[in-house]
Amino acid sequence: MDVYEAVRSRRAVRGFTDQHVTPEILQRVLAAASWSPSGSNIQPWHVYVVTGAPLAELKKIAVERVVAGEAWDDREFEMYPAEMASPYRERRAAFGQQRYAALGIDREDWEARQRAAVANWDCFGAPVGLFCYIDRHLGLPQWADLGMYLQTVMLLLRAEGLHSCPQMAWSQVRRTVADVVSPPDELMLFCGMSVGYEDISVSYSRTGRAPLDETVTFLPR
Ligand SMILES: Cc1cc2nc3c(=O)[nH]c(=O)nc-3n(C[C@H](O)[C@H](O)[C@H](O)COP(=O)(O)O)c2cc1C
Repeated sequence: MDVYEAVRSRRAVRGFTDQHVTPEILQRVLAAASWSPSGSNIQPWHVYVVTGAPLAELKKIAVERVVAGEAWDDREFEMYPAEMASPYRERRAAFGQQRYAALGIDREDWEARQRAAVANWDCFGAPVGLFCYIDRHLGLPQWADLGMYLQTVMLLLRAEGLHSCPQMAWSQVRRTVADVVSPPDELMLFCGMSVGYEDISVSYSRTGRAPLDETVTFLPR
């Protein structure tokens, strides 16, 4: 698979089969992804790969927590600014509308939206969960390094026939994740990532993108 095809075919998949993902594939992908760039080559990513019984336990406890309506864990970073200006606000609203429309959920049906959201903490059925941490003393540029690393992982997964869904939702139950992976104190959870083979019976709507001239300026014009 060439890089363009990997980029084109990557999307946030929210329905996976229980097909086993071999440790060899995960090793290969994560070893290759370690060649991602980072400022001064500090490689600020820390990833926990969780499968089998520990993942089943984590999913169970997280889903139970969310279904019971327990409060989220205290935040270590804000997922989004409280007030989002245009055009981000509109793009976010359009995403929400498309996502729930694809599932046949009415925009006003808050309960149905919640039910769909709960699937996050079941890793959308995926048999592999990656939990991506960063040292809390590092700054914004290192968070960008982490993003590049995660995208590299997701593209390499495509080359292996696998799909993924990056999930900040896991940061909302970060203490439950920590109970399972026991990270050192200096690490903060950025996101989880569900990994597996796509369940093609789950309907979805492909997200769009802003026209290029909204996000890229070529000079000279
Ligand atoms: C850092 C990050 C966190 C995300 N968190 C979630 C999440 O918690 N749950 C979810 O369903 N999707 C999540 N997504 C997926 C985005 O909604 C998705 O990437 C975006 O809508 C674009 O769609 P696409 O990836 O299918 O092209 C996240 C994506 C990123 C990059």
